[in-house]
Parts: sequence; structure tokens; C-alpha cells
Amino acid sequence: MNINNAYNEWSTTYDSDRNLTRDLDQVVTTESLANRRYNTILEVGCGTGKNTLLLTRLGERVCALDLSVGMLEQARRKTRSERLVLAVADLTKPWPCKTESVDLIVCNLVLEHVRDLSLIFSEAQRTLVAGGQFFISELHPYRQYQGTKANFQRGPETIEIPAFVHHLSDFTKGAKESGFSVHSFREWWHEADQNKPPRLVSFMFEKAGLTK
Ligand SMILES: C[S@@+](CC[C@H](N)C(=O)[O-])C[C@H]1O[C@@H](n2cnc3c(N)ncnc32)[C@H](O)[C@@H]1O
Repeated sequence: MNINNAYNEWSTTYDSDRNLTRDLDQVVTTESLANRRYNTILEVGCGTGKNTLLLTRLGERVCALDLSVGMLEQARRKTRSERLVLAVADLTKPWPCKTESVDLIVCNLVLEHVRDLSLIFSEAQRTLVAGGQFFISELHPYRQYQGTKANFQRGPETIEIPAFVHHLSDFTKGAKESGFSVHSFREWWHEADQNKPPRLVSFMFEKAGLTK
């Protein structure tokens, strides 16, 4: 099943399914970003808008992109803000965003579906203003090594969505090659994860600021 069809099908139950990874990611995003304020935020792979609500409180303007029309429809229902634009876009193609127009890019639980991270980092670098930030929260590679992938239930059947393993060094190397520095790196466990490897990893990457 291709990624777009999978998320269109999952979209109606994505928010209500039992999903500890989704729930932890919301905690991670809130803990990492809630005290910050931005002019313009770009959310890539916004899904049903789980984190978009928070972002509309942090930014003067928010643009949220996703491949799946079904997921975007759910996001549209829950986030009616004049400051928010939702649009269809495939992140593996050049992004429909102006160069140096965004202060913060947010990307949660998306990159396991993207084979090659180089375009993601180069488009993030192009789109951000000098000193802009790129926040990523993803399934930890330790979980990927154990075979975990995004999945949903179709009746009794578990449908796994195509996923690609990304090592921690894929993130840091990809970011560095596009000119980012690492501002922070954290590993996260759900309270149900005792004695297990971390469930999520988050990074805050920074684009170089203006030199005086
Ligand atoms: C697990 S959901 C995460 C959604 C949301 N960020 C969250 O944290 O709840 C993954 C999302 O990535 C989107 N996605 C996957 N590949 C994509 C691509 N190439 N371009 C844009 N969105 C993509 C899917 O449609 C889906 O909405």
C-alpha cells in the first residue's frame, strides 16, 4: 500500500486509535516548543493537526503541509484559525514555500516515510531565515532496528506503512551537509516504556545567523 493511500485510510481513526508514539510526540512537542514565539512557522507532514493547534498559539502565521488529503481534512476540522494555511504538498519534491520566509520548521513522525533526507534538509535550509530553527521529532532508530513501523488496524489486520530506517548519524550528517548546527538532541520514553529503548528522538537544528 502506498503512503498516501495508507494515511487517507487511517485519517478517520488516527486521532482516536490507541497510539503511545503519537501521544508521546505531542508531549515532546509541547515540552520543546511551548515557551517560544515565532513570526512564521512551517509544519511539514502536519497530519490531522495534532500539533498544529499548539503551533497556531506560538506563531503569527502557520503554514501546514501534508501529502494526504484525508489527514488534512481532519486537521481542517479541528484548527480553524485565520493565521493557519493548510495545503497539500509532497515533501520529497521542492517545497511550495518562499526562500528565507520561515522562522521555525516543525516535522513530527514523518521522516520514517522519506527515503532520502537530503532534500528535506536542503529545502529546510532554503526556506528558513538566517538564524531559523528546524525541529524534528521521529521514531527512534533503536525502535526501527527492532522492526517497529507506523501501522494501523484494518479490522483484524495490521497494516504497516512503508518506512525507511534512519540512523542518528543520518540526521546529524544530513543537517550538517546542508549547513545546520545541532542546538539540541534528546531521547524520549513514554511512561509505559520502562526498561525499553527510547521511543522518540528529537533534534533542534539551527541555520547560521547573520554575521555582524
Ligand atoms: C504519523 S503521521 C504524523 C502526523 C503529524 N505530524 C503528527 O505528529 O501527528 C505522518 C504524516 O506524514 C505525512 N507524509 C508522509 N510522507 C509524506 C510526504 N512525502 N510529503 C508530505 N507528507 C507526508 C502523512 O500523510 C502523515 O500525515
